[in-house]
Amino acid sequence: MKAVCSWMKSVALILIFNLYFNASYQLTELKVCKLCGGTILNSSAVGQICSIYAGRIDGRCCLRNDNTNDPEHIIGLDLSNCSLTCVQDIQGASTAFMIDLSLNPIVNINDTTFQGFNKLNYMILPQNINCPGSNTSWEKVEIKEGNRHCEGQRNMCNETGQLSMNCPENSLCAPFGPGFFECSCAENFHGYKCLREGDFPALQVFGPLAASTVVISFLLWTSQRRKAKSP
Ligand SMILES: *[C@@H]1O[C@H](CO)[C@@H](O)[C@H](O)[C@H]1NC(C)=O
Ligand SMILES: *[C@@H]1O[C@H](CO)[C@@H](O)[C@H](O)[C@H]1NC(C)=O
Ligand SMILES: *[C@@H]1O[C@H](CO)[C@@H](O)[C@H](O)[C@H]1NC(C)=O
Ligand SMILES: *[C@@H]1O[C@H](CO)[C@@H](O)[C@H](O)[C@H]1NC(C)=O
Ligand SMILES: *[C@@H]1O[C@H](CO)[C@@H](O)[C@H](O)[C@H]1NC(C)=O
Repeated sequence: MKAVCSWMKSVALILIFNLYFNASYQLTELKVCKLCGGTILNSSAVGQICSIYAGRIDGRCCLRNDNTNDPEHIIGLDLSNCSLTCVQDIQGASTAFMIDLSLNPIVNINDTTFQGFNKLNYMILPQNINCPGSNTSWEKVEIKEGNRHCEGQRNMCNETGQLSMNCPENSLCAPFGPGFFECSCAENFHGYKCLREGDFPALQVFGPLAASTVVISFLLWTSQRRKAKSP
């Protein structure tokens, strides 16, 4: 019975921990949907995509879950006509595949703004703003009705002529948003530039964590025992 109690305490701690992280993630996600007032109109580009994918509209976002077990995530973001002069705090929409920033007096957009937006495949921007990662990061760039349309994010891992930067040996390249790629060490390699071979030193890294878990469990156990013994 006592063992069950301390076990439940740990579960409660883990639950609180997870809830905290989920909540903070959902907060940043929702914040981006409320960056400006109103909701997505059915007639807008993002609204049409949203009805095709049977998404749910919340403020300026279209949300959807791929299957019932997954949490909902943003698939479309419509910040059109929002009087935005700069674009920031939109990291919550990194799962979106369509973003509309048209009809805003944006001056420029930082190159790193869309880092990690791997699924982004369609953008509508004011005409004066270049597609993130420049034209070479997109299959098609067009000016239509005074807006710039960037379509089809190119995979920077396949040499595109200009970008022949490769990941170091023993590492794998993965797309990381328009114009960006990410290198990760191949299996059995680790360390700076993936130069060290061998199993990941799990014991050194996880050792202290495991030890502290044991100490905490022991403290919980002894405190429970003391309570049980005292009359
Ligand atoms: C927009 O689409 C939703 C869902 O398809 C529908 O319920 C709603 O009535 C539509 N709104 C307008 C203004 O057409
Ligand atoms: C932009 O928003 C303003 C009011 O906020 C509205 O009057 C105008 O019609 C909108 N423009 C478009 C193209 O939706
Ligand atoms: C772009 O953003 C990065 C990271 O937020 C920052 O370090 C950098 O100074 C910014 N660049 C410009 C030109 O504002
Ligand atoms: C990118 O493509 C657009 C549309 O084709 C073109 O107008 C623009 O000049 C290009 N920009 C650069 C930097 O090549
Ligand atoms: C890489 O690019 C070449 C030509 O640009 C293409 O034929 C090939 O299929 C691409 N490979 C991948 C994995 O996308």
